[in-house]
Amino acid sequence: MRVLGIETSCDETGIAIYDGDKGLLGHLVHSQTDVHAVYGGVVPELASRDHVRKVLPLIIGVLEQTNLSKSDIDGVAYTCGPGLIGALLVGAAIGRTLAWALGVPALGVHHMEGHLLAPMLEEDGPEFPFVALLVSGGHTQLMEVKGVGSYRLLGESLDDAAGEAFDKTAKLLGLPYPGGPELAALAEEGDSTRFRFPRPMTDRPGLDFSFSGLKTFALNTIQQQVSSSSDNRQIKADIARAFEDAVVDTLVIKCCRAVKATGAKTLVLAGGVSANRRLRQRIQEVMQKEGARAYYPRLEFCTDNGAMIAYAGWQRLRTGASEPLKFSATPRWSMEDLPSVG
Ligand code: KG4
Ligand code: ZN
Repeated sequence: MRVLGIETSCDETGIAIYDGDKGLLGHLVHSQTDVHAVYGGVVPELASRDHVRKVLPLIIGVLEQTNLSKSDIDGVAYTCGPGLIGALLVGAAIGRTLAWALGVPALGVHHMEGHLLAPMLEEDGPEFPFVALLVSGGHTQLMEVKGVGSYRLLGESLDDAAGEAFDKTAKLLGLPYPGGPELAALAEEGDSTRFRFPRPMTDRPGLDFSFSGLKTFALNTIQQQVSSSSDNRQIKADIARAFEDAVVDTLVIKCCRAVKATGAKTLVLAGGVSANRRLRQRIQEVMQKEGARAYYPRLEFCTDNGAMIAYAGWQRLRTGASEPLKFSATPRWSMEDLPSVG
């Protein structure tokens, strides 16, 4: 079965074709960075309009890339939540309509399930069961995963998501949007011994997170240390490094706890923040010590993309799941509400 995947939940338009026998056949991603950079963050209406402009050319592009025609598509999967409602509706409307025109089944996919299953796009991907740390711009969640659709939430952020904390702190440091990767790059030049940020909620039991205090800690440090007279690059790099170390340490500590609590032998790291080099490295080292194996997607499948949606869609479409002509998009949606497969 060949599935066309469409991702339009936020500021990337992603299109891919996944083949149940041959794996991922092709994919394209268009990032809206240029559209939103001048505003310092995502402008929902501009995101929707840009998706409208890009979805069809990208579908044609992926068909060309894979030497396939529309009639080779056996099913269509589109992100139907969580995300920006206008942006979601673009992918949902085009995906559902295309499936109707082609006479094939269509399915709305949970964006975070896409992220969660993305490491399985790799040849040597993880096998169920596992614990997953989902770290994106909107979510920080630890999930116990027994199979596709069998998800138990172990803990989550009570306030800002890890990616959101990266983005907000980057803004405080005067870095351009999108802040997370910019802050990580600046942190590479930082001295890890100069400042020490707290590791929130690690001094008490439990698997929840809280990252909004780190942003305030960063603000206070900036106000004390950064002067208006010089360029302050080194101080900012040191602050970026201290912030990154605090987030990474906190995530790693909670992952260890989750692995111990569940007895899991596999940890999956996914979502935009899983592109962070230091996080990938630390998780790898620490899981090895715990006797568990860590998996994460290749870099291009950490942030939003169509491949993860095509794959998650295939996992469900192949069991006969599909949606009626009346489709919907869901801006807020818990993964625990998804039906289990198999
Ligand atoms: O999964 P994603 O592309 O979109 C959402 O579903 O939210 O995640 C985007 C988030 C942003 O907050 C971005 O700053 C963060 O992932 N991010 C990073 C890195 N690359 C992306 N954060 C830290 N280090 C990175 N290298
Ligand atoms: Zn995402």
